[in-house]
Parts: sequence; structure tokens; C-alpha cells
Amino acid sequence: MTIAIMGAMPEEIEPILKRVGSYETVVYAQNRYFTCKFGTHQLVIAYSKIGKVFSTLTAATLIEKFGAEVLLFSGVAGGINPELGIGDLIVATQLCQHDLDITAFGHPYGYVPEGAVFIESDRRLRECAFDVALEMGMTLKEGIIATGDQFVASPEKKAWIGKTFHADALEMEGASVAVVCDALEVPFLVLRAISDTADMDAGFDFESFLENSAKRSADFIMNMVETL
Ligand code: ADE
Repeated sequence: MTIAIMGAMPEEIEPILKRVGSYETVVYAQNRYFTCKFGTHQLVIAYSKIGKVFSTLTAATLIEKFGAEVLLFSGVAGGINPELGIGDLIVATQLCQHDLDITAFGHPYGYVPEGAVFIESDRRLRECAFDVALEMGMTLKEGIIATGDQFVASPEKKAWIGKTFHADALEMEGASVAVVCDALEVPFLVLRAISDTADMDAGFDFESFLENSAKRSADFIMNMVETL
């Protein structure tokens, strides 16, 4: 099977590249794609750059050019649910775009005609994630992840996103990747480790905990790949 492993930032895929050891690099569409064999699988690994547009391009490329049959996203997120502390892992049940707003036309936040507010991730991959968590003796939460082209560092904004979408965490790529995978019928999973809690200290916390949280998520994803 060809498995895509995607992050948004170099820090999110470096631990994965270290773990696979050797790989080939393909330059395409102003980005680098790293390919290798891993057990019986073919892997294609990339970071997209931050945000919904770059992550859409990368997810579509991983599927359409590199033939990914499954897409696993690994990275960090800001926590909304108070039960999520820095370093904790969350797997998305559903994803939505918190910055998509045509409410002026009577539509709900996050909705455009012929789209959907929420996109569900693959149930079997989520079950696999919980099996891996059990094996690793780790706590894994699941919940709604809200995506937008904003780094959220405001208690008010965070509360609004939490209330409007019942979201547990927020980040900047998951829902756009979900839209691509859903449209192209590729099973996907979005896993995030908390780097900050999207409040006043978010910028400082993000810089302090990015590397460690990104590695926690990446290690988990690679343990999942080993069981697929
Ligand atoms: N990713 C990690 N923390 C974030 C935050 N506070 N806002 C948006 N994306 C994030």
C-alpha cells in the first residue's frame, strides 16, 4: 500500500524521516516529497508549509501524483478542551473550517453550498490509533478539530471556536486535507499533539513545545504505520 505521511512544518516530519532512515527526494510543485519503502509499504512523506492552501496542494499531490491510498497527518495543535494539556494527543473524529464565513447569506459558520461543515475521518484508522495507544500505554483523546488560516492566541477567539463548532482543538491544515481526501475517497487520519492552548501565551508555548509535541505525534504515527 502507498501511505502518505504529511505535516505542515519541517519539525513535524523530521522525526519521521529520521525513523525511516533513507529515502529519495522528489521536487515537485515547489515542494519536496520524500519516498521510501517501509516494511511492505511504500511511503511518501512531505510537509506542506502552513495553512489551508498549501496543505490542500500537498494533499492533492500526494494522492494524484504519488498514488497515496491512505493519508496520515501528523503535527501539533492548540488545545481548546481543558482536558487537553501540552503534549497530549488528539485524533480528529471530524474536522471543520472555523474561518469559513458566508453567514451573511443565512448559512451556518463553516458551510458553503455543496460542501459540509464537518468532514469525518476514517473510522478504521481511528480504531487502529486506539489500538496503538493501548499498546503504547498512552492516553489518546478523540474530538473535533477546527482549522483556519490564523494562529489563534486569544481566549475570546478560542472560546468562540469551541462554542460554535464544539471543537476540542484547533490548527491550520486538518480540514483542508480532509476536504481533499473526502473528495478523492482516500481514507485519512489527522493526529495532533498539543503545543499550546491558543490563549495569550500561545506564541511563547508554541515555540517552546513545538519540537517535543511534533515528535510525540510523529512517533505515534510511525507506530501506527508499523501496524497497517
Ligand atoms: N497550531 C498549534 N497551535 C496553534 C494555534 N494556537 N493556532 C493555530 N494553529 C495552531
